[in-house]
Amino acid sequence: MTEGRAPQAREIDDAGRLRHLLDLRDLRREHLLALFERARGFRVGEHGVASRDSLAGRTVATLFFEDSTRTRSAFELAARRLGATVLNLDVGRSSTKKGETLRDTLLTLEAMDVQLFVVRHGDSGAAACVAESLHSGAAVLNAGDGWHAHPTQALLDTYTLWERGFDFTQGAVTIVGDLLHSRVARSLLRALRILGCPRIHLVAPPTLLPPMPEDPAIHCGSDLDAVLPDSDVVVALRLQNERMRGPLLPGAGEYFSRYGLTPARLAQARPGAWVMHPGPINRGVEIASEVADGPRSLILDQVRSGVLVRMAVMETILESCP
Ligand code: NCD
Repeated sequence: MTEGRAPQAREIDDAGRLRHLLDLRDLRREHLLALFERARGFRVGEHGVASRDSLAGRTVATLFFEDSTRTRSAFELAARRLGATVLNLDVGRSSTKKGETLRDTLLTLEAMDVQLFVVRHGDSGAAACVAESLHSGAAVLNAGDGWHAHPTQALLDTYTLWERGFDFTQGAVTIVGDLLHSRVARSLLRALRILGCPRIHLVAPPTLLPPMPEDPAIHCGSDLDAVLPDSDVVVALRLQNERMRGPLLPGAGEYFSRYGLTPARLAQARPGAWVMHPGPINRGVEIASEVADGPRSLILDQVRSGVLVRMAVMETILESCP
């Protein structure tokens, strides 16, 4: 897929430490596995999350230029669970509305000794731009930039599978939905390849299928039923109507009849196949309620993993931050 990333800030420094998390470009398998181990260490029983004080005295600022409920809450919870002070900037209503540039907002926050910026922005490459504008050595965590990347989502998705013992080097993963506008798909694709996934089926209506990288592991098409028999995991994505300029599909009903994940469709997948979705889910559009709430669904596990994985990322980054 094409990626619209601006000038590069490095995610891993010369000493091999995680400095920023932007798009997983610089991460290797051992980095992902170390984050997964650390995330699992925060688990308490089936559903609990540990509380630590490893980030006591540290300040994390969330800068969300796009609306978000679950991602922002997961970051905030994760930072608080580690004892950090969290500053939630209502960027829509703040000084940027009074004419202050993002650059000046960042300088002000750096002067207040913020060490980690969690950034969500509608423009592809925005998180990297923030990382390149900072003077203080603060770190940047991309919480989703335009159509480009959503690295913590990809980490939590792959962590959820890893925790269940999924063998990334053997299993086949299908990602179906609005691939054109999906930063989730781009990052998940990268994470799966880093982990050695040998077969990834990317399925979308022809109008929502972007150009793909040349990679023998990646198969693209528009026929979901054809690839389900070779799917150990099926990841459904939301139709991102807010990003579509003009009608790209006949309608939600037509979409559901061809691409909706129904019990009958899921029955065609490999025995024991898992179902995933990054949320927010649109029942009856990309997924049927029986599947979303069914025994093969990992959707709520993904939400739980989101806090654990973000704790792991923040702790790892701030360990190497002055
Ligand atoms: C995704 C996003 O915002 O990119 N959601 C999320 O982070 N949980 C996917 C989406 O909006 O469809």
